This record gives sequence, C-alpha cells and structure tokens, in this order.
Amino acid sequence: MSLPRPLSVSSKSSRPLPRRVFLRGLGTALLLAGAGPLQAQAARERLIVSGASGQLGALVVEELLARGADPRDLILVSRTPEELAPYAARGAATRFGDFTQPESLPAAYEGGSRMLLISISAGPDNRPQLHKNAIDAARAVGVRHIVYTSTVDADNQDVRALSAAMHRETEQILRDSGVAWTMLRNHLYADNIVGQAQRMVAEGRVVAQPDEIPTAYVTREDCAAAAAAVLLTPGHEGKVYDITGPRAVLRSDIARIAGEVTGRPVEIVRGLGGEPQASGAIAGFASFDVTSDAVQTLTGRPATSIEALLERHRDELLQATAAPQ
Ligand SMILES: NC(=O)c1ccc[n+]([C@@H]2O[C@H](COP(=O)([O-])OP(=O)(O)OC[C@H]3O[C@@H](n4cnc5c(N)ncnc54)[C@H](OP(=O)(O)O)[C@@H]3O)[C@@H](O)[C@H]2O)c1
Repeated sequence: MSLPRPLSVSSKSSRPLPRRVFLRGLGTALLLAGAGPLQAQAARERLIVSGASGQLGALVVEELLARGADPRDLILVSRTPEELAPYAARGAATRFGDFTQPESLPAAYEGGSRMLLISISAGPDNRPQLHKNAIDAARAVGVRHIVYTSTVDADNQDVRALSAAMHRETEQILRDSGVAWTMLRNHLYADNIVGQAQRMVAEGRVVAQPDEIPTAYVTREDCAAAAAAVLLTPGHEGKVYDITGPRAVLRSDIARIAGEVTGRPVEIVRGLGGEPQASGAIAGFASFDVTSDAVQTLTGRPATSIEALLERHRDELLQATAAPQ
C-alpha cells in the first residue's frame, strides 16, 4: 500500500514570504481562530504618543516597551523631541509636534495608526480647540483610533468644574470626528497626596471636614499602564474607562495610613464643615468617589493602594518629619 504523498508546493511558493505578508497572513489565521494578542502585532500597529516627554507620557512610553512593543513601532511626539533621544537611539521615531502650531502636526503623526492623545496641562483656555487641532491632523493622515486622557468628572455639568467642561468638550469633538475613540477617564493623581501626607506627618495633625468627598486617587503609573494596555490590545474602540484607585479615601484615611507607615501617628481633628470638597480641595468636582476595576482588568495587576504608595515613599515621609519647620 502506498503512503499518501505529502502535499507538494511549487518552488515559487516555497520561497520565504516577506515579513509583512507573512504577518498579515498570520493575522488573518489568528483572527479566524479567534486568537487575540498577536493580532495587534500581526497588523503592525504604529503607535503615536502625543506629549511623550510629559510626566504621564514618559511613563506610557516605558510601559509600552515593558509590555513588549517594538521601539520601531513607536512615534513619540513632543514639543521637546530632543528629550526623547534615548528612544530614538533604540529605533523609535521622535518628532516635534505642538497643538498650538497645527501645521506641525500632520508630519508628526504621519504613518501612525493608533494615537494616545494626552490632554494638555492647565493654562490655555482654548484647550478643546488645541486638542481638536491634534484630532484633525491625526484623522487627515489616516490615524484610525485615538485614545484620549480625560477625567472621571467629564459628565459633571457643574459650572465651577472648568477642567471637567474642557474634557467633556474634547470628548465630544473626538466622538464627532469619525475616528474610532477610547476615553480613559483618569482620576486625580495619587502621586500628589505624597506631599499632603508629608505635611500631615510633619505637623502631627490634620483637620478633617465632615462633608469631605472621598476620592479614589490613582497613580500616574497605573494610568500609564492602562493607556499602554489599551494601545497594545484590540477591542477598546467606543469604550469609556474610569481609571481609578482601588477605593475612595478621605484626608483622615490618608493621615491614618501615613501614621501607620511611618510609626508616627497623626491626630485627626474634626472640622466644622463647609463647602464639600475632595481631599485635593478642588471645588466643583462630583465624581470623586467613583471607583472601577479598569486598572486591574486592562493591565492584569491591581491598582495601587494608598497604603502601597505611601509605603513606597516612607523615607520621604520620615524626612519631612525631621525637616525644620
Ligand atoms: N489626573 C490628575 O490629577 C491630573 C492632574 C494634572 C493634570 N492632568 C491632566 O493630565 C495630563 C497629563 O498629566 P502629566 O502629569 O503628564 O502633566 P505634565 O507633566 O504637565 O505634562 C503636560 C503634557 O501636556 C503636553 N502639552 C502641553 N502643551 C502642549 C502643546 N501645546 N502641544 C502638545 N502637547 C502639549 C506635554 O507634552 P510635551 O511637553 O511632551 O510636548 C505633556 O505631555 C495633563 O496635561 C492634564 O491635562 C491630570
């Protein structure tokens, strides 16, 4: 009995496929098989990070690389691209782009398929228009998905919540742009409460208002990890994620934790109340106590607790105690 002959392939088709064609074919096969993670790799997304030299932007770049992104697939845009030279040396494109100079943006975004649009810092009162400049330029050069760093308070209509209004307006511009979008509604940065905790430990007491709004602070690192995960994996188009810490805390919680971490208890003095405010004392916010599990779901690791954050900064908290008042 003769054995079945192996399928023959012509010498033409046995030549190795070019990497691009091979990956596209692999992507289709994986798609048909319902496979996930390699799809992004197979489609060779080129990822733009706007504001790549800012505090959040720099952490996002590090997270992308830590999660296996090929530096050659990164387009890092900044007003100061020279600060990104180490990434250029690894093969990333580093380009100048300034939202106040719209003519600089198409060349900055050329070749990118997915972009993280980092909201610009407080200052100019025309921020939605500046963000629109970035969105328009990205769409014009073929970017098909924009991930925007918004705020948990974006739906808050309180007229005092200026930052919320700015993010709400930008979100609407992005929804109307025709480009696929994802909103990362980042909560207040937990990093900022390290300074608060230092003062509490140094002073040995804190005034806690009874009507304070608990706040689910989130670290910049967790925001960056969530952004990197959204950039690197499929399926986030049309989604809104609240990016928060694991639980909402009051100033009295921060004081208690700072006391436990340093071994120097902080006395909690009850105040008389007044304007409801978050621990960060920013009036007009409504959604401070929102918590979500998005950090865990997106990144595969739990959001950083205040306990873990202050433990990490224990030496600084203790140094503040020793510093002259
Ligand atoms: N969740 C919170 O508690 C909180 C607090 C403060 C701010 N925010 C928001 O989150 C954003 C990122 O936070 P961060 O800590 O990384 O702030 P940051 O260090 O002050 O960074 C500011 C960012 O804005 C970019 N930017 C400023 N002006 C720009 C312009 N004209 N054109 C293009 N990009 C411009 C910067 O990019 P380059 O310098 O690289 O050009 C940088 O990425 C802030 O900009 C702000 O919208 C959130």
